[in-house]
Parts: sequence; C-alpha cells; structure tokens
Amino acid sequence: MKTLIQNGTLITASETFTSDILIEDEKIARIGLNLEADSDHRVDATGKLILPGGVDPHAHLDLQMFGTVSSDDHYTGHKAAAFGGTTTVMDFVVLDEKGFEHSVDVWMKMAEKAAIDYSFHMNLTRFDEKIAGKIPSLMKMGIQTLKVFTAYNGRLRLDDGGIFKALQIARDNGMLVMAHCENGDVIETLTAEALAEGRTSPIWHALTRPAWGAVEATLRMAAMAEQADAPVYIVHMNAGGEVDMLKYARERGVKVMGETCPQYLFFSMDHLARPDGAKWICSPPMRTETDNARLWEGLTQNILQTVGTDHCPFFYNGTQPIVYEGSEVFIPGKELGRDDFTKIPNGLPGIQDRMPILWTYGVKAGYITPNQFVAFTSTNPAKIFGLYPRKGALVPGADADIVIWDPEKQVKYGVAHSHQRTDYNLYEGWDLTGYPEKVFLRGRLIVDGDEWKGRRGDGKFLKRSEGMVL
Ligand code: URP
Ligand code: ZN
Ligand code: ZN
Repeated sequence: MKTLIQNGTLITASETFTSDILIEDEKIARIGLNLEADSDHRVDATGKLILPGGVDPHAHLDLQMFGTVSSDDHYTGHKAAAFGGTTTVMDFVVLDEKGFEHSVDVWMKMAEKAAIDYSFHMNLTRFDEKIAGKIPSLMKMGIQTLKVFTAYNGRLRLDDGGIFKALQIARDNGMLVMAHCENGDVIETLTAEALAEGRTSPIWHALTRPAWGAVEATLRMAAMAEQADAPVYIVHMNAGGEVDMLKYARERGVKVMGETCPQYLFFSMDHLARPDGAKWICSPPMRTETDNARLWEGLTQNILQTVGTDHCPFFYNGTQPIVYEGSEVFIPGKELGRDDFTKIPNGLPGIQDRMPILWTYGVKAGYITPNQFVAFTSTNPAKIFGLYPRKGALVPGADADIVIWDPEKQVKYGVAHSHQRTDYNLYEGWDLTGYPEKVFLRGRLIVDGDEWKGRRGDGKFLKRSEGMVL
C-alpha cells in the first residue's frame, strides 16, 4: 500500500522544508519535491506541517498504586496519546518478587492491547548480587533502561551504593540509568511531622517534598554518573535548581541528560492549595512560578533534552462514572485521600495534552522553535532510548509514524476534547492554536480528525538497543 502526502512543510529537529512524502507499507519510502508515484491514497498537506510521530519516554499505564490503578490502560492511554500526535510510548515495568523475566512478562501481557508502538523501562527497586547479575539479560529482552529512585523509602528507593553499582553495570552493557531525584529521608521526616500536626490537605504533599531535595539529588546523580563514567537521565525535572545542576554538570562534561513534563512548566504549588488541589498531586510536586520560568529556559537553551508526560492518571472523583467508548467506567481515584494527602494517588493525566499544549504555549508563545518542539517531543527521546532513526525521524527507511499538524486549528481544550480516561483535564478551557489533523502509525491512518481508526493490538513492542548520549 502506498500513500503520497503532498506539499506539506516538514519539520524535523534541525530543518524546515516543503516536500512530499511517499509511504510504502510501514515505511517512509521517499522524500522530495513533486514525487510521482502510483499511490493508493493521496493527501494534500498544503498549509499543513508534517512532523515525526511523538515519542513519549515516560508513562504509567495500568499501574497499581495506593489501592487503585492508573485509569488509562495500554489501549486507552495509547489511543489518547495518538490523538495528541504521539505514536510511541514507554512505560515502566514494576519489578515483582519473581524477577525481571516474570515482571516483563506481566507487562507484555497487559500491553497485548497496545494501539501504538511501545517499549519498557525497568524499575530497579531492589539491588543485590543476584539482581546485579541479571541486569544484562534485560538488554537481550530489548529493555535498555533502568529507573532508580532516591526517594520512596522502604518501597522503591535504592541506597547510593546500589545506584552507583547499577550505573557501573549499565555502563558495561550499553544501558542507561534513569533517575527519580528527591530526598527520601527528608520527605519521610517532614511527612511524619505534618501528619502528627494534623496537616492533611493536598498542599502538604508539596510542602513535605521540598525542591532542595530534588536539586541535591540531581547533582548527586550527576556526580555518581561521572564517577562511574556512565550516562544518566534525570526524569521529570521540576525545580529550577535542577536545571542549574544539569547545566553545571553538562558544562563539565558529565553525561547527564534531563526530561521535564508540561505540568512543571505550567503549574505551581498554588494549584495544590485550591479546593480541588488533589488534581495536581504528582511526585515530584509542582514548585513555583520561578521554577516554571527556569525550566522554560532549560528548554529554550537546550539544557534539557526531552519533554515527557509522566502520564499516570486517576479520576478526581472515582465514585462517579464517565462514559468511555460507550460504557460507563469508574475507578477509585483522588477521593481516596480526601482526609489525608498521603493517600491521594500520585499522578496526573497528560499523554494526549503534551504536544498540543507545548505547541501553543511553547512554540507559539515563543519559548521554543518548531524544530526544538520536534527534538524534545520525538527525535531526542528516540535517540536517547535507542530507537533512532526508526522512530523520531522523517527519513527514507524510518517507520512511517507521521503527524499532519494543522497549525491554524483552533481548539477550546479540556476533558470533553480529551481521550484520556479520566474525569478531568489540567488544561480545562485553554485555547489552542494548532492540533494534529491526521496521525499515521507505520503507514496506517489511526487518527483522522475526530475519528479513531486505530485498533487494539496493532501496537508493536519495540526492542531497543544502545542509545545516544545527547
Ligand atoms: O506522581 C507520579 N509521577 N507518579 C508516577 C511515579 C513516578 O515517580 O514517576
Ligand atoms: Zn518518578
Ligand atoms: Zn513516572
């Protein structure tokens, strides 16, 4: 099957030019002006932008937490992602008691309903000699990344010795350590104090997880990476000081890279002080407007490399159903922590929002260029996570994951527009200019305007190999 997309403006991470694109089956076959081909379909893209499908390096689908589960699974989350222009999503495997292989099998099973392409990171939440010896086997399974945590004492956290050894093993096997940077001990102490004093409202989630913990843990991770001679990727960067630490370390040649997420660019802890503050609860928390501004500088100045989502949605009121694909659904959510912020499921929706929100409020607002937009949302994650140029690139031979973007489309955004399976949207009522019009996954049209043409099970698991250090 051949599809010819004609006369669009191609935007890559480094160039902008007018061209046609010929798709043959699952791949981009040719790129050039005035292509002639006996195509089955022609799409006139005059006045439209052509982008590589988005690559979201950070999502939590069907994740059990706090006695409930994140409300998008590997079908609904993928569908929402596709409507926002994303065609590849990376999720985190929870390490169970039976080890890596079993844990990956569990995630593979859950992802059988995948609607877009996907891969996995492994949460490295235990470390001993046996686990250390098994880490290289992950690479054979196509899992090139280990997430470590400097917080969540007694649950997910590794001590610095374990993290340092994991960095060494990653270095020796072409793998990459991703780090969640907060100070677990400080959080434990402040949380216990707050609860003892009866401080239970959502704002205390932010006040018990101070930004300095994120800042020092980011520098600590960079320092350990340098001493291990290994690369490291800091996930969900949220504090301006983390950007400063990233800059400091990168200027000294440390192989440290950083990801932020839209919620840290647009919201502050003031949102947690609202009556519906639970909607904004995620870990790490939102900080201040000064932090928002420094994170934007981190993108403008290319100190940061990616924008992911950390999509981990919950219902705001999980006692009331919403209608999803014609059926009523309700899943316990943020109301579980009505009387105690420590019981509010941590996480929020964003997998569909990422690209449209960042386009209007990042590109059109003048913080980043269209090419930086493509770099942060697609090309850089594909490069860092070993998928480039199969993903994240508009070149012959790449997977035909293509977004036709209408730069003039006006949208009043919000929960009614979103396919994220939850009952609220953080960007309710925001005006957008620019939105995906058509989305192709490996040559197949899966989103056509408002119409969903994707299918459960069509997403492929992507075995990843060694990535690049940017
Ligand atoms: O609140 C969040 N982000 N939940 C997901 C877990 C994590 O640390 O990324
Ligand atoms: Zn995290
Ligand atoms: Zn996360």
